[in-house]
Amino acid sequence: MAKAKNNYKVKDIRLAAEGRRKIEWAESRMPVMMALREKYKKTKPLKGFRIAGCLHVTKETAVLVETLAAAGADVSWSGCNPLSTNDEVAAALAAKGTSIYAWHGMNVKEFYWAIERTLDFKPNLTLDDGADLIFTIHNKHRKLIPEILGGTEETTTGVHRLRSMADAGELKYPIIAVNDAETKWDFDNVYGTGQSTLDGIMRATSILFAGKNVVVAGYGHCGKGVADRAKGLGANTIVTEVKPTAALKATLEGHEVMTMDQAAKVGDVFITATGVKDVIRDKHFRMMKDGAVVCNTGHYDCEINIPELEKIKKSKRTIRANNEEYIIKKNGRRIYLLAQGRLVNLAAAEGHPSEVMDMSFANQFLSQLRLAELAKKGKRLDTGVHDIPVKQDQDIAALKLRTMRYKIDKLTKEQKEYMDDYSAGT
Ligand code: ADE
Repeated sequence: MAKAKNNYKVKDIRLAAEGRRKIEWAESRMPVMMALREKYKKTKPLKGFRIAGCLHVTKETAVLVETLAAAGADVSWSGCNPLSTNDEVAAALAAKGTSIYAWHGMNVKEFYWAIERTLDFKPNLTLDDGADLIFTIHNKHRKLIPEILGGTEETTTGVHRLRSMADAGELKYPIIAVNDAETKWDFDNVYGTGQSTLDGIMRATSILFAGKNVVVAGYGHCGKGVADRAKGLGANTIVTEVKPTAALKATLEGHEVMTMDQAAKVGDVFITATGVKDVIRDKHFRMMKDGAVVCNTGHYDCEINIPELEKIKKSKRTIRANNEEYIIKKNGRRIYLLAQGRLVNLAAAEGHPSEVMDMSFANQFLSQLRLAELAKKGKRLDTGVHDIPVKQDQDIAALKLRTMRYKIDKLTKEQKEYMDDYSAGT
């Protein structure tokens, strides 16, 4: 059985001490993960399992990686976005023995090279954020598929694509949709994306949100989080949507709803959170006010059509880190594009706070463990996309509450019976 040999390629291994302090800070905010590490470090239930991971290299991810390793797994890692790797954290992981191939600012060729290196040890489990690892295996390394027991997927975009791959009969091993856990998307997607997106915009621009017209494209869990937080800072929030129920919710939650054609003329800040391409394109750039700030917090960098912006520009310069000023040829107006249209919360800030990643990554860890435990019994989930068990969600929430020192009530036996009693009426 191939073992990962602590091969690595990171920006600079000398950054390890700084990265280690960041990881220790994250550990102090991730009590659920630390409880899982403590619980499984003696029994090592993941011994013999080789996990290839492709997920943003942040201090929180380091806590996940080292928890999987503490539980016995052999782990090899790459980042899932060319701009989201924290180089200090990557160095700290490498220095402590993780095989990792990730650095900030890698190009697309290097990005796929890094993914392929994590396949060198022939993984039997995969862990993804955005499904690029799964796609690489299915497109280029199909020989690995018979050995793979299953995988987990972190994000809405990835789960959506994997479901369509499964519907087309193209998905060849089982996937657990970590994203769809209540303790993931009701917290990470809403409060994590909400806060970290505004954090990224503030770091790249230092603008005042109060009084600005903030346009949020998409009112799923992430868009809702962003719009609510922007409103909390005093912005006038405008939501654009394609789904009638989502648009309706946005209006009842106090946001204006309009089309992007309308919003383009009045917005000061534009944030895409849709999972769809070309949400902001040529005609919208032309309509924007002088000084408009444009950024994306969806998984891929195609929500803002940057090639079209490039075509209509007169000139472009870097105004500060993660902030490019484009001057539009026709009208001389300035548009500020943040983080090259990539996830602004990870490229310009540090991603979601540790406290929410604690629950998301507890779901990752327990889902990997579930796949491994099934394999030990000679079983395997059916090929397809699977939800996490309801009990796992409630157990994680209960543990999180305990670490926060909150207590909640329990149903009495009579209350339980009453709830189930279909003969009870007024
Ligand atoms: N996705 C969003 N925020 C993240 C974080 N802090 N770590 C890993 N993945 C993330």
